[in-house]
Amino acid sequence: MKEKLKQISEEALRAIEQATDASLEQIKIRYLGKKGELTAVLRGMGALSPEERPKIGQLANEVREKIEGAIAKKVQETQAKAMELKLKAEKIDVTMPGTALPAGHIHPLTSVQRELENIFIGMGFEVVEGPEVELDYYNFQALNIPENHPARDTQDTFYITDKILLRSPTSPVQVRTMEHRKPPIRIISPGRVYRSDALDSTHSPLFHQLEGLVVDKGITMGDLKGTLETFAKKMFGENTRIRFRPHHFPFTEPSAEVDASCFVCGGKGCRLCKGEGWIEILGAGMVHPFVLSNCGIDPEEYSGFAFGLGIERITMISRGIDDIRLFYENDQRFLDQF
Ligand code: DAH
Repeated sequence: MKEKLKQISEEALRAIEQATDASLEQIKIRYLGKKGELTAVLRGMGALSPEERPKIGQLANEVREKIEGAIAKKVQETQAKAMELKLKAEKIDVTMPGTALPAGHIHPLTSVQRELENIFIGMGFEVVEGPEVELDYYNFQALNIPENHPARDTQDTFYITDKILLRSPTSPVQVRTMEHRKPPIRIISPGRVYRSDALDSTHSPLFHQLEGLVVDKGITMGDLKGTLETFAKKMFGENTRIRFRPHHFPFTEPSAEVDASCFVCGGKGCRLCKGEGWIEILGAGMVHPFVLSNCGIDPEEYSGFAFGLGIERITMISRGIDDIRLFYENDQRFLDQF
């Protein structure tokens, strides 16, 4: 029996030595299981003499402990080896360049609007906003454009009801501001405007304007000129000059269209200014006395100037963009250039 136990011990230890992770469990069952080889030997102990029994019993226990110990050690070894392999395979090279996430940026219209706002804020203007869904009264009536006035036809307006519409210029914000504020007033009002124009390279049914209004005692056309010249120099460069061409707007008297000298050719004539040397940048004028009195401001005591510019137009001129539709299509190839 001693021989048998020794044989089992040697066989088992050899098997464990060569075992893989999967075969280890089978070895355990084969030697130590209920029907295992060692158990079979122990069952045969009944036939031994009383003197021999404890000796063999002790030996059998030693063999069991040896096998169990060897198995535990092997398990530990294989687990350590597996972990080592895993760590090697999953090694991270922290010096590898990362995957860059695409970063968004400001839309060119927004950036030009902010630039415009900053220029006028620098001159003491305050930014105010007004509603895009507007009353006919503020959009037309109070601006000296009565019903059946031909100026209503030049701005094809989206009507919601007879009296409610989508504002066609930002000018109604002038009226809303003058209605509840006393002069001195010095505001700009940027925002969306709507006109039922067909979309082409220079027209869009939705675009952006920036309105300006100054009202105080003794405001003159000279103040308007000085303000717009300062603006044009800041926006298009120090050498920029401006000129006023007589025009007509119902809400200003006198009225003018204002050009800036072409900042590409300096006035000599080029492709940008179409050989003119000048580029139209906005409409302006002295606030019509009717508009002042419509808002409860005495035109005998106060005077003011106003101007309105198209933000798309200024952006197209200053950034060399030739099609207004590009602003709204959100084509990354276009947007990424700004
Ligand atoms: N409302 C005019 C337009 O949409 C722009 C404009 C011209 C606004 C002269 C003004 C102004 O305030 O004085 O074409």
